[in-house]
Amino acid sequence: MDDWTTPHDRVLAQRNAEGWMFLIEAARDLRTTGAIAPSGKTLARLLTDPVDERGARPVNVLEVGAGTGSVTRALIPRLSSGSRLDIVEANPRFAARLRHLVHAHPHLAGVGERVRVHHTYLEQLGTGHRYDVIVSGLPLTNFTPARVEAIMDRYLDLLEPGGTLTYFVYRGTRYARSLTATRAETVRHRGVEEVLADFQRRHATGCWTVWPNLPPARVWRLRRPADPAAPAITPTALAGRGR
Ligand SMILES: C[S@@+](CC[C@H](N)C(=O)[O-])C[C@H]1O[C@@H](n2cnc3c(N)ncnc32)[C@H](O)[C@@H]1O
Repeated sequence: MDDWTTPHDRVLAQRNAEGWMFLIEAARDLRTTGAIAPSGKTLARLLTDPVDERGARPVNVLEVGAGTGSVTRALIPRLSSGSRLDIVEANPRFAARLRHLVHAHPHLAGVGERVRVHHTYLEQLGTGHRYDVIVSGLPLTNFTPARVEAIMDRYLDLLEPGGTLTYFVYRGTRYARSLTATRAETVRHRGVEEVLADFQRRHATGCWTVWPNLPPARVWRLRRPADPAAPAITPTALAGRGR
């Protein structure tokens, strides 16, 4: 007989295993892994809301930095029929786990060819596609400002006009770093925030704080203009949207 008797037991066992896997990968390389635990359900839902909002139309979706698949798992059931999903993950052990998740997921039975896991860095991705929605899990505040600028430019480039990018940053990381890190690290972190603030000023349509997450996170939603002449949203209007 099975050791886990109910589906609930199985889900708990799977979450536990993923938690440990994440922690081990963080211990191996915290800068690339970017967290010590996978995203929680509220964060995963907020990141994937733009897919749901597209309704019944098929969508092209790109998920970058999928880790153990906590966001992927929220994303897959929200894909309408005929949609395409490309998942990019740099860590080979996470990529193998994501392949297993995709192959075993009941929602994807018979449409496997529309969902692909790419074991590569985003910077080296070449799918030849554009996307309606990009969901980013990359640990941007661990990178250099120049790399973040290149990644954000790449995201905008990969989006269809009118397409949506969601990403998150953990709250309070600069403060936490300023207590322990070198001055060069603090300056690097501030530089990344400035790069992101510039993209937010030009393209943000919303932001939300997710307190029940480890650590709490701020989700940003950016939109590639459908019409390059469309007016940007002002910071004052944006401030009213936070929750
Ligand atoms: C903070 S974790 C997020 C994992 C997952 N999306 C979640 O929310 O639980 C960041 C992930 O991005 C991956 N990663 C880091 N740099 C990357 C890059 N340049 N291209 C693709 N994946 C990358 C890491 O291996 C890790 O799995």
